Amino acid sequence: MTPHAVSTVESAYSAAGEFYELVAERQAASSGPALTVALAGVDPAAGPVLEIGAGTGRITELIAREVPGASIVATEPATTMRAVLTSRVAGDPGLRERVTVTAESAQDLAARLPRTGERFCAAVVFGVAGHLDPGERRALWSALDGALPPGAPIAVDLMGVAAPRTIPPVRMLRERVGDQVYEWWSAGEPSGAGRMRFDTTWKVFGPAGGAPVREVSESYQWHTLGTADLAAESGLAAEQVTEVNSRTTAEIAILRGRPA
Ligand SMILES: C[S@@+](CC[C@H](N)C(=O)[O-])C[C@H]1O[C@@H](n2cnc3c(N)ncnc32)[C@H](O)[C@@H]1O
Repeated sequence: MTPHAVSTVESAYSAAGEFYELVAERQAASSGPALTVALAGVDPAAGPVLEIGAGTGRITELIAREVPGASIVATEPATTMRAVLTSRVAGDPGLRERVTVTAESAQDLAARLPRTGERFCAAVVFGVAGHLDPGERRALWSALDGALPPGAPIAVDLMGVAAPRTIPPVRMLRERVGDQVYEWWSAGEPSGAGRMRFDTTWKVFGPAGGAPVREVSESYQWHTLGTADLAAESGLAAEQVTEVNSRTTAEIAILRGRPA
């Protein structure tokens, strides 16, 4: 796979955001059971659920289902992703009533929350933590810990890369929509201590497995991390969920502030 210039969050997710819905449902299905475990017992009276990097809103829908009485603040800095998120929320009367969409990044929130004293009942950080460097993550965990009741969950999707490794180009998805076929290819390479560079390409083909129509490529840096790293850098208790009811789920870490 041809390496490309590394994109900013905005350019990466705004270009490939066009295709994200093709993969989001599968990802939500794989993370959903672990999210259910993470959000069990959350008290909506303590404030909204804060979802950081909400993408196109598939996980937002699950949060709304799992914490029925809660409002949700869904932040998403990339315009294309946020457009789909807003469309999903606005098109569903139940979500429209409960979900507030903002453009804030995790870094913006980490800087703002300690000043405003805003309170939340839980936080969900899915597919985002590796976009932050260790210093940015420490600031985020500290801000979230200060904004949540003791023991409330910060659910973090680890994306299955705990340490840098080479991932040869692999086709992650092939889906037909109308007369066209969409393929998603991804490859990864170590790019420094605790870091990987991912190169991904969406390929669109014409009818009947036909000629290539277009390709959209992006590259991004991902800071690898596992549950033990999160526990160490946050100073919070951390539990890992990889299986629910004997079924493998996406790997989720649940951080919790210690009881007061
Ligand atoms: C892999 S997608 C996951 C989307 C959604 N959470 C899900 O699980 O379906 C990663 C999302 O994180 C967002 N993101 C990347 N860097 C971010 C940052 N620094 N702060 C907040 N969101 C970020 C991207 O724009 C993108 O929508």
